[in-house]
Amino acid sequence: MFLRNHWYVAASDSEIGRKPLGRVILGEPVVMYRTEDGTPVALEDRCPHRRLPLSMGKLVGDDVLQCHYHGLRFDRTGACVRVPGQDMIPKSAKVRTYPVVERYHWLWIWMGDPALADPEKITDYHWFDDPDWGAKQDYLYAQCNWQLVNDNLLDLTHLAFVHETTIGNMALVEHATVKVERTPNGVRVTRWIIDQPAPPAFVKIGGFTGNVDRWQIIDYLPPSFIRLDVGCTPTGTGAPEGRRVGGIEMRNLNAMTPETETTTHYFWGQAHDFDPHNKDTTEKVFAQIKTAFLEDVAVFTAQQKLIDLDPAAPTTDINADAGGLQARRIVARLYAEEQAAAAAKTAAE
Ligand code: FES
Ligand SMILES: [Fe+2]
Repeated sequence: MFLRNHWYVAASDSEIGRKPLGRVILGEPVVMYRTEDGTPVALEDRCPHRRLPLSMGKLVGDDVLQCHYHGLRFDRTGACVRVPGQDMIPKSAKVRTYPVVERYHWLWIWMGDPALADPEKITDYHWFDDPDWGAKQDYLYAQCNWQLVNDNLLDLTHLAFVHETTIGNMALVEHATVKVERTPNGVRVTRWIIDQPAPPAFVKIGGFTGNVDRWQIIDYLPPSFIRLDVGCTPTGTGAPEGRRVGGIEMRNLNAMTPETETTTHYFWGQAHDFDPHNKDTTEKVFAQIKTAFLEDVAVFTAQQKLIDLDPAAPTTDINADAGGLQARRIVARLYAEEQAAAAAKTAAE
């Protein structure tokens, strides 16, 4: 199940250049490159002649992509502009184009109806280019359905078990107050852990010696954007009342893009507001979280293997699933709406 009428992250901006990059997104092959003036282009990555990926080809001139197999050439509009050895260009010799926008050091792509592609709808990830924050981005390839990643990030009790050496400890399962609420378009899960020891990574990053007041505020926006506001301050200094002083504050920023039903392009990054211009701090923070994220990827892969083995095997829900279940309900509703709109459009045509 894919939601098509949404912006997705297709690549980091540094991945796109004069060498064509092929990537499957929402089950469709896409090739991305830049024209000579730097403008990013995304086309269907399938030559209409004999279906070789155009990403195996090369750019000739400003923006013309030449297929590696028999040399058909396509311009940035997807039109075939040359068939070697013949003057006539068949009408069917064309590929689809996709709207793209560069923002927050990511290239965003619209896989649905191009008429609906409004850049205003791109989810806010300003922390990646905000001078008041230090940040580093990354990409992981996860062999799992994209909604397993949503589930994971919306239930942070798993930190106590999967990430006990970095960002987790039992306090966030046993001593937390949790609130799950609907936002205008998504879900927010707020978790406070008051007067408890800081987890190992926070001690390393923030040097805490005593107990802390820790928060995790998880903001979900469909289909698969999850922004975490996390941090802690020494206990009793007023963080729950909004006075975040003397501690650390970070944003863990995630954008999952389905590749297929069972594989996901996992774009993410970590931003910190303390010592924002110190590259060593950025690296230190990033390294802690990356260790944890690789632990998550191992979990997703193992889950997906068992799902593939028996998709109908029963599962049990617990209280901690509240946020994830609400997100799944939103996705199901949006999917039904998209399908109904597409059917109505086809009927009208
Ligand atoms: S497959 Fe592309 S030119 Fe033949
Ligand atoms: Fe995790």
